[in-house]
Amino acid sequence: MKIGIDKIGFYTPHLYVDMNELANARGVEPEKFTVGIGQSQMAVTPITQDAVSLAANAALHIIDEEDKEKIDLVIFGTESGIDHSKSAAVYVHHLLGINPQARCIEAKQACYGATAAIQLAKGHIALHPESKVLVLGADIARYGLNTPGESTQGAGAVALLISAEPRILALEEKSAYFTADIMDFWRPIYSDIAFVDGKFSNEQYIWFFNKVWEQYQEKTDLTLNDINAICYHLPYTKMGLKALRTIIEQASEEQKEQLLSNYQISTAYNRNVGNIYTGALYLSLLSLLEQNKDLKDGSRIGLYSYGSGAVGEFFTGILQPNFKEHLNKEQHTSLFASRKQISIEAYEEIFEEELPTDGSTTELDITQDPAPICLAGISDNMRQYVNKLTK
Ligand code: HMG
Repeated sequence: MKIGIDKIGFYTPHLYVDMNELANARGVEPEKFTVGIGQSQMAVTPITQDAVSLAANAALHIIDEEDKEKIDLVIFGTESGIDHSKSAAVYVHHLLGINPQARCIEAKQACYGATAAIQLAKGHIALHPESKVLVLGADIARYGLNTPGESTQGAGAVALLISAEPRILALEEKSAYFTADIMDFWRPIYSDIAFVDGKFSNEQYIWFFNKVWEQYQEKTDLTLNDINAICYHLPYTKMGLKALRTIIEQASEEQKEQLLSNYQISTAYNRNVGNIYTGALYLSLLSLLEQNKDLKDGSRIGLYSYGSGAVGEFFTGILQPNFKEHLNKEQHTSLFASRKQISIEAYEEIFEEELPTDGSTTELDITQDPAPICLAGISDNMRQYVNKLTK
């Protein structure tokens, strides 16, 4: 039985800043951000969006009535959770109207959370082939104004429907994974911005990649020439390229060209969104699938997941017959086209906005946010979400 990705949804907030403008405001050469880091635009999250609403908006367009009946497990990978106790999955389960006979949990290991969720979903489907699992990866990456990490901020969510006989990508059985306790990036529970040892995190990302790539080859007897494209967790689009370059000489000349060209295509959406942590790898996969016109059914796609702290995993999937017919390319194109560029001053103001933490009641103006699902306020320490489509 094949198990894998049957549908992919994506959402990013409607506001963004241009990286040339951010560079000018920070007194650095624009090429540092656009070439050295490899980002063109950065998503900015209005106060009316959080990880829950981003994920619900991402799933909204892919889940139909039959899915709502068949989904019996929702796993929400995030490091931007809104509650220490209640899982973000329960909120999304309610907002989407998924059948109550379902399990809902949150999975956390930095950017690796959604990959963990997919692997758990795979095991669940193997035991219950008639079920479907909704995997969510949603985050808001925040390092702080004027910090080295600022140019790698971003926000967005990816929703993946995992099922038997998937129509997009069938996951292959073997996978290579590795864990080591390191402090390259972390966010203590009292802080709303991440702490990071930037250079160390880059080194560890590559070190983990080399570890799992070697392990994967040993487990499978496959080589780089057997893989048509590798999608990477993309904290910024130059990062995956640095990792790919460490192994590219293992490929034939023709294969090198294919891998490098596919790499560029796989960064298309991430370049204009920024880091979305748990969803970043799957946003890269979506870029590749929706933007590469020549990608053929049957191609083998490698996926490198990295979550600081740290866990790394390399696994592969095979593109299914007519996979292109099951993508939502038009909807994603119009999502990008409808975004609004804002000034650096406006971004800084939004960045500094905070929800109350003293239990006071707040009503937010959701008329300025075009998202169907928004955070409308807080009362009695409870977040109030609104789905404008069902209101
Ligand atoms: P920095 O230290 O300010 O930048 O921050 P830099 O000086 O290293 O420059 C960056 C690149 O721009 C360099 O290229 C420069 O040469 C180049 P490289 O040598 O690395 O290829 N550059 C220029 N290029 C063209 N024209 C110019 C120019 N000037 C410079 N004029 C850093 C960079 C990534 C450290 C910082 O942004 C940061 O700390 N980011 C956050 C951490 C991060 O993203 N780490 C990535 C690996 S860890 C990970 O992926 C996990 C994560 O997603 C979290 C999770 O798991 O939850 C972060």
